[in-house]
Amino acid sequence: MCGIVGYVGRNNAKEVILDGLTKLEYRGYDSAGIAVVQEGKINIKKHVGGIENLKNLIGKDPLKSHTGIGHTRWATHGAPSDINAHPHTDEDETIAIVHNGIIENYIELKNVLTEKLNIKFKSETDTEVIAHLIGLYMKDSDTLEDAVYKATLDMRGAYAIVAISAKDPDKIVAVRKDAPLVVGLGKGSNYVASDIPALLKYVKKLYLIENNEMVIVRPDKVEIFDENRRPIEREEFNITWDADAAEKEGYEHFMLKEIYEQPKSIREAITRRLDESGKLKMDGIALDYSDLNKIRKIYIVACGTAYHAGLVGKYLIEKFAKIPVEVDVASEFRYRDPIVDDSTLFIAISQSGETLDTLEALREAKRKGARILSVVNVVGSSVARESDDVFYTWAGPEIAVASTKAYTTQLTCMYLLALHMGLTLGRLTEEYFNSFMEELLEIPAKLEDYLNNSKEIEELAKKLYNRDQVFFIGRGLDSAISYEGSLKLKEISYINSFAIAAGELKHGTIALMEPGTLVLALATQDFLYEKMLSNVQEIKARGAYVVAVAKEGNEAIEAQANHVIYIPNCSDGLTPLLSVVPLQLFSYYVAKERGCNIDKPKNLAKSVTVE
Ligand code: F6R
Repeated sequence: MCGIVGYVGRNNAKEVILDGLTKLEYRGYDSAGIAVVQEGKINIKKHVGGIENLKNLIGKDPLKSHTGIGHTRWATHGAPSDINAHPHTDEDETIAIVHNGIIENYIELKNVLTEKLNIKFKSETDTEVIAHLIGLYMKDSDTLEDAVYKATLDMRGAYAIVAISAKDPDKIVAVRKDAPLVVGLGKGSNYVASDIPALLKYVKKLYLIENNEMVIVRPDKVEIFDENRRPIEREEFNITWDADAAEKEGYEHFMLKEIYEQPKSIREAITRRLDESGKLKMDGIALDYSDLNKIRKIYIVACGTAYHAGLVGKYLIEKFAKIPVEVDVASEFRYRDPIVDDSTLFIAISQSGETLDTLEALREAKRKGARILSVVNVVGSSVARESDDVFYTWAGPEIAVASTKAYTTQLTCMYLLALHMGLTLGRLTEEYFNSFMEELLEIPAKLEDYLNNSKEIEELAKKLYNRDQVFFIGRGLDSAISYEGSLKLKEISYINSFAIAAGELKHGTIALMEPGTLVLALATQDFLYEKMLSNVQEIKARGAYVVAVAKEGNEAIEAQANHVIYIPNCSDGLTPLLSVVPLQLFSYYVAKERGCNIDKPKNLAKSVTVE
């Protein structure tokens, strides 16, 4: 969704801001803009479309300045257009702001500004309301920070706002409430951004700004204040990723790079949690026997791909720890008055840690007394900060909108979490744990091997890319993976795909099977293999074209399916980490054949910070 970059220092602000915005392109956006303070005036350039359009608009204009802000906008209030693009200014054009989030009472505020104060609005955005409010308060404030502070008192909603003033050229003022904001700490240069990847090239240290805090950023000084404007000391956060982590490194797309990174990221997620003697060390998780013994119910709540990781998590926790688990889509959980109390463990799964629905569901569970555990990728994100226990996935930056390595590391974390619960509660023997861990540790190498020999998927995609619809079926854990396979395909190739538990087919969906209908059938679970063979037989009888996914050695399915993709052999419980990968690759190559914008699919954003 929207991205923010701000710079104040000795260098040319334009270069840093355009570069930072480029790094945030992956989040999804439809217009971009920049504002700098230049010779006592605000100079703004903004354009609908990509950053290339903005660069063309800027052309040879050096926009020479040491202070500026930039934005990539994902339209919410008002269509994507030059006028609605950020930055926005007050009437006198003495201040400029960029904003992520939504101002809920903007209509009310806009009415007052237009009717009582006769202010003329240029755009349809809620953001312009903020700019006019700050502009108004500037008239009787000593400083930009005073005016920004007063404006925040009028606003309801979620925001990260970054402001500059023509009258105070060496300063950026930023505030946040429920939208991420970080300050990058350089030498004689400081930075503001909505996301760390924008700053990886420039800084190794950050301040993570908390809710309701304001930050004043100058070239040599950064000051943070709480909501009562009292100064705050903040510990510096060290960035361990290098700048390459957010580069394509020779791959055609980030998605492909991230698919190929999975053996490494899964290995990292496991080995970080093992001590020298092979015992689990659950960093960030303080759940001991007495905590776990109190838990009567677990909710796993998430959105999209992270929700699909939760479906696997339910299976694992119920199997290893024998605690009942419900998995909910966050946007539903928060509006259905779920039964939650202090014997509930709420597990949020989120790559970005900023998904608003997940965050609000978490808050709802917290209000009702649940203990909050989160499985998160982005360090210091809102979900992480608001949780009692945090289990980081350590996948590194995931740039492609379609989630791949974040998903498989979420799965890895769910394995470790479920094993930890089972062991701590004494519901799992040491022997079982040891042999399961041994097999889990072999998965990254098996995956590497598979990826090195996966050319057939590209060939298959070349043959099948032209379908209008695709079905994904499976049973047990395979059913959870078929949901993820289906989502991956539809989001990047725009093919209408649909996943269903194979046993449910006969209760309606089989009516859609026709000669040539493409079905991806997952059949990796030994104890359900024969049942899947029957399901495949039923759809074959209606003429479906079946591509099956099975474990090496399970060849009986060749008699039924048109094509079989074999994944390396492993226990049933571990197949999700392997079986999802050919589905990711299939989606990737189908989307490529169809000429789709793979890393930035239309209408989608990497981090969904609105409802
Ligand atoms: C799909 C995808 C989305 C996200 C969902 C939740 O590939 O990436 O479905 O999984 O928007 O996002 P996070 O995990 O950031 O909460």
